[in-house]
Amino acid sequence: MKIITTISEMYDHSDRLREQGDRIGFVPTMGFLHEGHLSLMRKAREENHALIVSIFINPTQFGPDEDYDSYPKDLESDASLCREVGCDVLFTPGADEMYPQGTLTTVSVAGLTETLCGASRPGHFDGVTTVVSKLFNIVRPHMVYFGLKDYQQYRVISRMVQDLNMNIRVIGLPTVREEDGLAMSSRNAHLYNDERAGALTLSRSLDAAREMIREGIRDPRAIEKKVAGIIESESTNRIDYVSVVNADDLTPLSSIERRALLAMAVFLGDTRLIDNTVLEISGD
Ligand code: PAF
Repeated sequence: MKIITTISEMYDHSDRLREQGDRIGFVPTMGFLHEGHLSLMRKAREENHALIVSIFINPTQFGPDEDYDSYPKDLESDASLCREVGCDVLFTPGADEMYPQGTLTTVSVAGLTETLCGASRPGHFDGVTTVVSKLFNIVRPHMVYFGLKDYQQYRVISRMVQDLNMNIRVIGLPTVREEDGLAMSSRNAHLYNDERAGALTLSRSLDAAREMIREGIRDPRAIEKKVAGIIESESTNRIDYVSVVNADDLTPLSSIERRALLAMAVFLGDTRLIDNTVLEISGD
């Protein structure tokens, strides 16, 4: 596995791969890799001639009071996991390489970014879409892989790729969970024991919502209320938002007709976790 830290070397490498007709699969990450990232990497490995993974903790997607400085890092262990999965290139640029003169250009997707995490983290998605566009321009992948735990991010990036005719296939893969249901996240490393226990209410509340759908409940507010009650039953938890929205355009829903997204963000101490499920009404 080659480790590349400069944009010019990454351009040259991708040029060579494209010239020899290789399909490039790309998994952009912020590192501290876990099974969720590895599932994306394995799929990308299977479906492409070359697998490129990036690790870059992107400062522009963190708000001033967020965890940029304390975001977990372990480049050595990340590199050995990448090697095990059969990654061809690990691209790890520094912030000076990615933003040598800051940036005057922002890629911004309207609408989809105004709700859920976009509402509580102003500017976050502009940071994400701008850095992801830069990474796509540098790596020039054919296929890119994102986890559906970040459902809104997946929708926003898919729309950006479509609107800007990027000629890249965006693949979303299911959330990977610990045995007890906790969605895998690099930020789980920050949880204290009681917070880790409190965090289990997130996946439990998603189960409860799916059960309500099976029982025939179609009122988004009733589901949000039940879910919020389960999360708030643990004193470690503080809800940022719990929302049932249209699963395609993320707009508010007054009734669940076919498919809806139940999404949540919850603070456990200083750690903010997100989780979601798509609620589907079966046709029978
Ligand atoms: O999901 C992430 O880890 C980040 O938002 C991404 C897509 C790597 C952009 O920095």
